[in-house]
Amino acid sequence: MKTRLLVLGGNGMIGLAVLERALMKQDIEVTAFVRTPSKIPEEIREKIKVLTGNILNPENVADAMREQDAVISCMGQRRDFRRTTIFSQGIKNTVEGMRKHNVKYLQFAGIAALMPSAFKFPKFLVPIAYDAEDMMNYLKTVDDIIWVGVMAPNVSHQEFTGSCKVEENKLPGPSNVTKYDMAEWMVTSITDEAVMEEHKHKFLGISSMSTSRCVLQ
Ligand SMILES: NC(=O)c1ccc[n+]([C@@H]2O[C@H](COP(=O)([O-])OP(=O)(O)OC[C@H]3O[C@@H](n4cnc5c(N)ncnc54)[C@H](OP(=O)(O)O)[C@@H]3O)[C@@H](O)[C@H]2O)c1
Repeated sequence: MKTRLLVLGGNGMIGLAVLERALMKQDIEVTAFVRTPSKIPEEIREKIKVLTGNILNPENVADAMREQDAVISCMGQRRDFRRTTIFSQGIKNTVEGMRKHNVKYLQFAGIAALMPSAFKFPKFLVPIAYDAEDMMNYLKTVDDIIWVGVMAPNVSHQEFTGSCKVEENKLPGPSNVTKYDMAEWMVTSITDEAVMEEHKHKFLGISSMSTSRCVLQ
């Protein structure tokens, strides 16, 4: 049976890469949740289901969860580094919507610099870091949903290298991951019960190691 995957922020940098990698899998049915569908290239849009909504609107989010099995959240605020609530309120709306419609698995794209043993936090990100930290603290209280934080360092537009690795609470390698490596890790692992169980309720650093294959660990 196909996994019905909802991608929040499906028209952002990582979100679009997730849509592209998910479309390569035979066993995934993809829905994107966005504010502006036209920001998804037409050749992708015509192959998926697109829902329009705002992550800060609980009804929009809950409606999007209907008949989904798994959620990948790629919420972000592009180049706007002002204080926000899209992470903290957005994740609460996401979890509540998942509970309402019995959606089991959640991954979110997070910020590696927020992990305990990560590199120093860049000053310009401090205002959004407060909200992203609130999101992480809230998730630590959620044990009825299988969630995994995939904590990115610098995300590049480079091609898929198939060399990504993950490690709990730290980066396993360089401070770089390509968006396609990260997306592949996310879509492959969210459809694998054993991998989700292994990493559940953890924040994982992710790096592209530039070796020849993607290692699920
Ligand atoms: N890109 C990086 O280098 C990098 C590095 C480390 C960590 N991360 C983390 O990874 C996550 C995703 O990053 P990204 O670069 O892919 O993000 P992005 O390109 O900034 O895209 C953000 C997405 O969130 C959506 N969004 C924002 N506010 C929304 C709202 N109120 N309701 C619905 N959708 C909303 C945007 O949709 P609209 O187009 O409609 O605004 C867009 O699809 C972020 O948490 C970011 O901190 C990214």
